[in-house]
Amino acid sequence: MIIGSTRPTRICAQIAALVTAHLGKDSALSYATVDLAEIDLPFLDEPRKPALGRYEHAHTRAWSETVRAFDGFVLVFPQYNWGYPAVLKNALDFLYEEWRDKPAALVTYGTRGGARAAEQMRTVLTGLHMRVVADDVRMRISADDVDDAGQLLDAAGKIAEYRDGISELGAQLSAFLISAQGE
Ligand SMILES: Cc1cc2nc3c(=O)[nH]c(=O)nc-3n(C[C@H](O)[C@H](O)[C@H](O)COP(=O)(O)O)c2cc1C
Repeated sequence: MIIGSTRPTRICAQIAALVTAHLGKDSALSYATVDLAEIDLPFLDEPRKPALGRYEHAHTRAWSETVRAFDGFVLVFPQYNWGYPAVLKNALDFLYEEWRDKPAALVTYGTRGGARAAEQMRTVLTGLHMRVVADDVRMRISADDVDDAGQLLDAAGKIAEYRDGISELGAQLSAFLISAQGE
């Protein structure tokens, strides 16, 4: 589960935690959280293109090891100005082979639902040769759902609204991983 917003007042970590808890229920998969705020990468500063896999910096090698350790990913991220957060694209761009052929599922959100961010991210992940599951969860978080500081008034209730979609996403991810084991 990659937390794709690093803003100090983000709601992403809370959403990711609740989605993880929901997905973890009755699942053969185990989920761990990767917080890009903790990974704390600079803007891409490798001299060689990542596809070569010859990394100069310790932070890139550490990020490579982190990503290699996982069989698949759920990306949880908001829509920013009709796209995905730059910090998430930067984290993806740092590596290349580490992502290849791994399944990915998307949970997006935004005042109007995060559809544009999801669609753009699908294109990026296809370019990285990832296997994106058929359906996304795109959560609409309207002005009524947040307080004056933009924090969710009822985070658990909001996740519950999307529980069927989240379960379906987990099922599609499991199916991809099981089929990958057979290859
Ligand atoms: C820079 C920025 C751009 C945003 N652009 C959009 C947008 O295009 N569409 C939308 O529905 N919401 C947009 N929002 C509202 C966010 O969905 C909302 O603020 C959300 O809480 C951001 O996620 P975060 O708190 O985890 O960073 C934007 C918010 C920010 C900070």
